[in-house]
Amino acid sequence: MNSDWGNKLIKLVNEKKPSHFLEIGVFCGVTSRNICEFLNLIHRGNFTYTGIDLFGDDNGDNNEKKPTYIKHQKFSNPLKHIYYNLIMKENLNSLSSVRKFLKDFEDKVSLHKGNSNEVLKNLDMQKIDFAFIDGGHSYQTTLNDLEIVYENMKDKKGTIVCDDYQDASYITDVKKAIDYYVKKEKLSLRIIEGKFAVIDI
Ligand SMILES: C[S@@+](CC[C@H](N)C(=O)[O-])C[C@H]1O[C@@H](n2cnc3c(N)ncnc32)[C@H](O)[C@@H]1O
Repeated sequence: MNSDWGNKLIKLVNEKKPSHFLEIGVFCGVTSRNICEFLNLIHRGNFTYTGIDLFGDDNGDNNEKKPTYIKHQKFSNPLKHIYYNLIMKENLNSLSSVRKFLKDFEDKVSLHKGNSNEVLKNLDMQKIDFAFIDGGHSYQTTLNDLEIVYENMKDKKGTIVCDDYQDASYITDVKKAIDYYVKKEKLSLRIIEGKFAVIDI
C-alpha cells in the first residue's frame, strides 16, 4: 500500500483507537509496522497486533489472481530492488523477514502462517476490535474472511475494513463479496475513495 493510502488507514484507526488489531494479508509487514507504531504511541504499549499471511506458502489451491508486484517482489524504489532482490536475495513476504521487521513490538505481535480460510477457524478473536481484511482477493476468500471475522466481532463494538473494494476490481471480486454479505446481514457500509470498505459494528 502506498503511503497516501497508508495514512488514510491510520486516520481510520485513529478515529476508532482500537487496542487489538487483526490484519489478514500482511505481505511484507509495512502496514503492520505503521499500525504497531501508531497503536504503541496512542496506547503507550498497551495493544496487540495479529497478522495472517500465506508467507509464501501457496499450495496452489488458493486460486488467487495475484498482482505482479507480489509475484515478483517489485519495488517502486530501485535501490530496494537492488538491495533485497539482488544483494540480500531476501523474500520480504516470509515469516522470518516480517518477524525481523516487527522486532520492536515482538511481545505485542502474533503472526500466523497459513491460508486465512483455515487459520481463522482456530484463531482466538475475542479481543479483536479492528480487522483489516487484505489477504486473498477472490470472491470466496473475501466472503469467508468477512463472514468469520464478523461472526466473531458482532457482539461487541468494532470495525472491519476491507481493502480494494473497487480499486483492484480488475483482478478481484472483492466488491461483489462485500456487497453480498453486507446486504445479507443488513450491515452499514461506508466506502472511502473506492478503496476501503468500512463496516462499523
Ligand atoms: C495485497 S497483499 C497485503 C498487503 C498488506 N496488507 C499491506 O498493506 O502492505 C495480500 C497478501 O495476502 C496474502 N494472501 C493471499 N491469499 C491469502 C490467504 N488465503 N490467506 C492468507 N493470506 C493470503 C498474500 O500472501 C499477500 O501477502
